[in-house]
Amino acid sequence: MTTLEERPLATAASHATRALQRRAHDMIPGGAHTYAKGDDQYPQSAPPFIARGEGCHVWDLDGNEFIEYGMGLRSVGLGHAFPQVIEAVRRELANGTNFTRPSPREVECAEIFLSCVSTGEMVKFAKNGSDATTAAVKLARAHTGRDLVAICGDQPFFSTDDWFIGSTGTPAGIPSAIRDLTIKFHFNDSASLESLFLKHPGQIACVMLEAETATAPRAGFLAEVRALCDRYGALMVLDEMITGFRWDLGGAQRVHGIVPDLSTFGKAIGNGFALAALVGKREVMERGGLKHSQERVFLLSTTHGAETHSLAAGIATMQVYRSEPVIETLYRQGEKLRAGFEEATRRHGVQDYLTPLGRACNLVYATKGPDGLPSQAYRALFMQELIRGGVLAPSFVVSYSHTDDDIDRTIEAADSAAEVYARALEDGVDSHLVGPPVKPVFRMFN
Ligand SMILES: Cc1ncc(COP(=O)(O)O)c(C=O)c1O
Repeated sequence: MTTLEERPLATAASHATRALQRRAHDMIPGGAHTYAKGDDQYPQSAPPFIARGEGCHVWDLDGNEFIEYGMGLRSVGLGHAFPQVIEAVRRELANGTNFTRPSPREVECAEIFLSCVSTGEMVKFAKNGSDATTAAVKLARAHTGRDLVAICGDQPFFSTDDWFIGSTGTPAGIPSAIRDLTIKFHFNDSASLESLFLKHPGQIACVMLEAETATAPRAGFLAEVRALCDRYGALMVLDEMITGFRWDLGGAQRVHGIVPDLSTFGKAIGNGFALAALVGKREVMERGGLKHSQERVFLLSTTHGAETHSLAAGIATMQVYRSEPVIETLYRQGEKLRAGFEEATRRHGVQDYLTPLGRACNLVYATKGPDGLPSQAYRALFMQELIRGGVLAPSFVVSYSHTDDDIDRTIEAADSAAEVYARALEDGVDSHLVGPPVKPVFRMFN
C-alpha cells in the first residue's frame, strides 16, 4: 500500500491535526466517544476531526470542506446548525436548562411528539436511543413477568446496554447469565420467530425489531410478527430510531400499518440534540407512572433526561417536519442520488460490485470485491475516493439540507470513485487504497 506521503490526497491532514489525533488516542480509548466515528471506520485520508457544519456541509480542522452524508449517525435530519432549531435552543438556554421540578417543555414536547406518532398513548423522553430500547425491554419484562428478549439477528444495533451488546461479536465483560437472555430470529422469516416461541414457551417478554433496514419487509411479515406476539403473549417493540423521522413522521409503523405495543425513537427527533423517546400503549407505559397499584417499574429517570434545550430542539425540529416538506425532500434527493450513482457505476461497469441499497430516504451502499463478497477494503477505497472528491459519505443518507447542487456534485465524485473502483477490481485494491481497510465495529480483537 502507498503511504500518504507518497500519494498525497486532496485532504491530507496537517501535522497539527495528526498530532491532535494522536493525543485523542492517548487520552480516549478508541480516540473518539462513539465507535462508529472512530479511525477504524474510515480510510486514512478521512478528516480526523470535523470543526463545524452548516446545512449538509462540514469543514475539517485544516479548512477542507465536504458534503456530508449520514450526518451525526443520522441524528441530524434537517441539517447542521439548522436556524429554527438553533434559535429555539438559544432562547431556551437563556432561561436555564435544568430545575428541581419539571419544565413545561416536557409536556409540550410530549404533545407534539404524540401528535406525530399517533399510535402512541404515552411517551417518556431520554437522552440516548439505547436508554429507550433498554427501557422497553425492562417494561416488557415487568409487564409479562418473563425474562427472554427476542431480537432480529439480521439487524445491526439496538442498544449499548448488556442485553444487546452481549449478543454481538464484542461481548467481553457481559456475564453469560445476561447473554443467555437474548435470543435471535431472522428478518422476513416469521417461522424462525415462531420456533423461538415454541422452544421457550411462556418465557419471551418481547420481540424487538426495526420495521425495515436496507431490506424491506416482505408483504405480511410485520403483521405475522404482530400476530405471533399476540398469540404467545409477548410485546411487540418496534425500534424506530432510524426509520422514525425518515420513512414518515409517524414512523415506519404508519407506512406499514402496524401498531406495536412499544416503540422507540431517537436520532433525528432532536436534529442532533440529545433526545430519544419510548412511546407506547397506556396500559404498558403507565407501569412506569404513579396511577396504578402494581409493582412499580423504574422507567427512564436520569438527571439530564429532560434538559430543557434538548426538548426545545425536539419541539422546533418536529414543527419544521410538520410545516415543511422534509420527508418528501429526503425521498426526492435520495432518489436523485440513487439514479445518478447507478448510472455512474454502470458507466464504469462496476454495478455488480458497487450498489445502492435501501429506501431513498435512507440510502446506503454495498461494496464487493472481485470475488463478489462484501469487502471492507473496497468500502475504504470507495470512501477514500469520495473524500478526494470532497464528499464524506459512510452512507448516502441525505438530510433536508442536501440541495440539487450537492447531489450533482456527489454524483460527480461517485463517478470518479467508480472509475478508480473499476481499476482496483482489475489490478487489486492494494495498489489504490492508502492505509488499512476499515473494520466492523463488532469484532472480538483489534
Ligand atoms: C436502530 C437503532 N436502535 C438503537 C440505537 C441506539 O441509539 P443511541 O446510539 O442513541 O443510544 C441505534 C444507534 O445507532 C440504532 O441505529
